[in-house]
Amino acid sequence: MKNNLVSCYNSYLMATKWDKKRSDWYCRAVEKSNYPGKAVTSLTTLLRKCTSVIDIGAGCGALSVPIARKVKKVTAIEPSKWMFELLLKRSKKAGIKNIRAYNTGWKGNMFQGGLHSTIKSHDMVICANLPHNLVCNRGFLEYITKISSKYIVFIQSAGRWNRFYYEDLYPKLLKKRYKREADYIETYFFLHKQGIFANIKMFDYYFDQPFDDFNDALDFWKHRLKLKLTSKKEKILADFLNKKLVPLGRAGALTAPFGLRKAALIWWKT
Ligand SMILES: C[S@@+](CC[C@H](N)C(=O)[O-])C[C@H]1O[C@@H](n2cnc3c(N)ncnc32)[C@H](O)[C@@H]1O
Repeated sequence: MKNNLVSCYNSYLMATKWDKKRSDWYCRAVEKSNYPGKAVTSLTTLLRKCTSVIDIGAGCGALSVPIARKVKKVTAIEPSKWMFELLLKRSKKAGIKNIRAYNTGWKGNMFQGGLHSTIKSHDMVICANLPHNLVCNRGFLEYITKISSKYIVFIQSAGRWNRFYYEDLYPKLLKKRYKREADYIETYFFLHKQGIFANIKMFDYYFDQPFDDFNDALDFWKHRLKLKLTSKKEKILADFLNKKLVPLGRAGALTAPFGLRKAALIWWKT
């Protein structure tokens, strides 16, 4: 099909932590953030040599949408039903017609739902901000190597950022220290062990979290931390957030400023 924005495998819903609320918050943060612009600018030289791109774990289209303006065709693969719907909605709103979207994801050692064996090779495969255990999976790496004819690109967090204020909140609410997640260097080591000596380009960006109001913000942390709070702990969280959140534009709206973040764009030729 030509010039199509289509959804496939809609019936397939992979178990994912990207539920409706989490997907909506993420998408709202994307729309306020300079992450898509910064990432795509960092990719410009490579994208000039590409006509087709696969965006795996495309989320709400943070990269698929701007990249679709630069290349002939984008294939976006996203397992979460809610992220997938946001991706379709945002692409439609942007008037994008060259994204083919699949509501599926990598599970075990393959893409679910038939896509695995039918997908054609594309110039570039992008995996941005995907779970560590996915990008560091040998079967996954072998597969994406097969379906990329020019480049593979990983985008991952680099170094410390005050992730949702967890370093402050864990001791206060969960009585334990927050253990930081893996960053790009672990992925780089993994690739090195597989004989891939990738290039790295760093960029920085803001990814603050907007909220409709204070209750929306409280709900965000309760949902993220999977907390049923006692009234005492809820007060601790509310007091903490009162000090951190800042007003944003219209009355009642707030934002959580997380500061400047760094990302590593890891890329290699296939
Ligand atoms: C943090 S979001 C990143 C979205 C987008 N790539 C971006 O940079 O904005 C992570 C995405 O990876 C997707 N994901 C998680 N596990 C996946 C899997 N096994 N296969 C494909 N995508 C996956 C999630 O559904 C989610 O949309």
